[in-house]
Amino acid sequence: MCGIVGYIGNKQALPIILNGLKRLEYRGYDSSGVATYNGSTIVSCKSKGKINKLEKSIAKRKNLNGKLGIGHTRWATHGVPNDINAHPQFSNSNNLCLVHNGIIENYSSIKESLIKKGYEFHSETDTEVLVNLIEFVKEKENVKLGEAVQIALQKVVGAYAIAVIDNNKPDEIVVAKLGSPLCIGVGKEEHFIGSDATPFLEFTKKVIYLEDGELAVIRNHKSTIFRKTKDDTTFSPVINNLELSLDKIEKQGFDHYMLKEIYEQPKAIRDTLRGRIIAEKGVIKLSGLDDYIDKFLSAKKITIIACGTSWHSALVAEYMFEKIAKIPVEVEYASEFRYREPVIGKEDIVLAISQSGETADTLAAIKLAKEKGAFIYGICNVVGSSIARESDTGSYTHAGPEIGVASTKAFTTQMTVLYLMAVKLSKSKGIISEQIYRKYILEISRIDKKIHKILASNDIIKKVAKKIKGSKNCLYLGRGYNFPIALEGALKLKEISYIHAEGYPAAEMKHGPIALIDKNMPTIVIATNKINYDKIVSNIQEIKSRKGQIIAIVSKGDKEVKKIADYTIEVPDSIESITPFITVIPLQLLSYHIAVMLGKNVDQPRNLAKSVTVE
Ligand code: G6P
Repeated sequence: MCGIVGYIGNKQALPIILNGLKRLEYRGYDSSGVATYNGSTIVSCKSKGKINKLEKSIAKRKNLNGKLGIGHTRWATHGVPNDINAHPQFSNSNNLCLVHNGIIENYSSIKESLIKKGYEFHSETDTEVLVNLIEFVKEKENVKLGEAVQIALQKVVGAYAIAVIDNNKPDEIVVAKLGSPLCIGVGKEEHFIGSDATPFLEFTKKVIYLEDGELAVIRNHKSTIFRKTKDDTTFSPVINNLELSLDKIEKQGFDHYMLKEIYEQPKAIRDTLRGRIIAEKGVIKLSGLDDYIDKFLSAKKITIIACGTSWHSALVAEYMFEKIAKIPVEVEYASEFRYREPVIGKEDIVLAISQSGETADTLAAIKLAKEKGAFIYGICNVVGSSIARESDTGSYTHAGPEIGVASTKAFTTQMTVLYLMAVKLSKSKGIISEQIYRKYILEISRIDKKIHKILASNDIIKKVAKKIKGSKNCLYLGRGYNFPIALEGALKLKEISYIHAEGYPAAEMKHGPIALIDKNMPTIVIATNKINYDKIVSNIQEIKSRKGQIIAIVSKGDKEVKKIADYTIEVPDSIESITPFITVIPLQLLSYHIAVMLGKNVDQPRNLAKSVTVE
């Protein structure tokens, strides 16, 4: 995810763009840049790091005045965060200048064909490929910028929101979108561009939301919207009147980032899967794994190291790798592993999981494993992060920036990558048939729809939250794949509501926690039908006999648990290995609602940090 800002009108563009970029920093903040037309040429300034670093670089410059400009705050996808990969990107002639939010999936084939035509590339970005493709089309077809963008985008596969300016025609900005958001603020003889409306909220409340496949040529007085297809005519855009406050819009209408990120999970998982599965053809492509498949196939054991929520996804992976791919797995807390003198060597594969890619213990643990000769596979969300760089290979989760300290979409997207790895390895080892392999792929490709169904039960979950919000302690129980989810549910509650919570394998309850059960102690039991259902029903009976309160997560159509539980939350049915994706969602929402009802700071809970870069 990245943020785009633009301005054309009678005011100075730079302060408007910088202010707008700060509002969009939640969309990414690894590097940023601006470009303005200063009366004679387009000039730009870019900087690695947050917007305040860009401001410092701009302060040293004098030539960035001008009434037309574009800006970008980056969350790297292609190429590490640095000044060269930051946007805007220029075409070879330096005439076209472009900012982009999204991923051009077929960028490497376009790049190859442009190189054959003599184009040179300086960055690692897909964006530089796009700006040069537009330039190539513009020159070859001898068309105006708007038309060149229109034609070029028909050759592109992927998602984008772009803004382009041209040295030879510095009275217009061309914007287009597919998949990534983009809107135009309509002022008096001025127009604004933003990934959302926050960059221009103080200037105008009139906004045009560009639809997928639309393109607009924006001038001071007028913006003309086109459909993407060349033959289509222009049309008058609908101008909306904004009513939302700044604060709400930054969170896209959600009260908190955590809630927004919970609701983003269907899309985040789709983004993780994009380009990696072809359900109808039965294909899993995970380049980090494909390139080293022999290493994995000959591995006797995989050790997974992580911290916090990422450690819980590692526990889920233990079930996935062992059950689906029959590879033994050990899961380690990075902080323990690094000081345990682990017996590890050249034949070992170490998988490091980290949302931020910066967690100090995980980083130190992989450095240690590397010293001992192990092969490191990193699963990170933040592109170019230290753990990603330190790993021999790996996969990004592509969840987009996660701002809420309590991790949600990072967790489900980590599980997505791990699931793909387990299924691919199983097929490569000849453990599963083609038919079962395709079934696994189909199931993960449909997970977004199942999560949508659970999100639609938000009101039911909120009612349950109301019933238990006064508790001092909570117990979370699950078996098999649902045991790590019980741990994750308990962690979510602790983190943001400060209620003490423990996760346990359901049967272990008898070895201690059952002593705590009384009428004031709610137990959240994950009791979906595929995983030891009868045993879980017995565990629930044991709690009920001691007057404990039961909140059960059950599969749709459940009858038995419903008869004994105090409250039930239904989730869609699924195959066993997909269960954790489904059962974690109501637990995230339950914690969220309890914390909100208790008046806690959900997004920035006390004492916690999003990225723990100290031991
Ligand atoms: C912190 C965060 C957690 C996260 C953990 C590991 O404790 O608050 O949400 O799970 O660090 O972080 P990582 O970035 O390595 O996944």
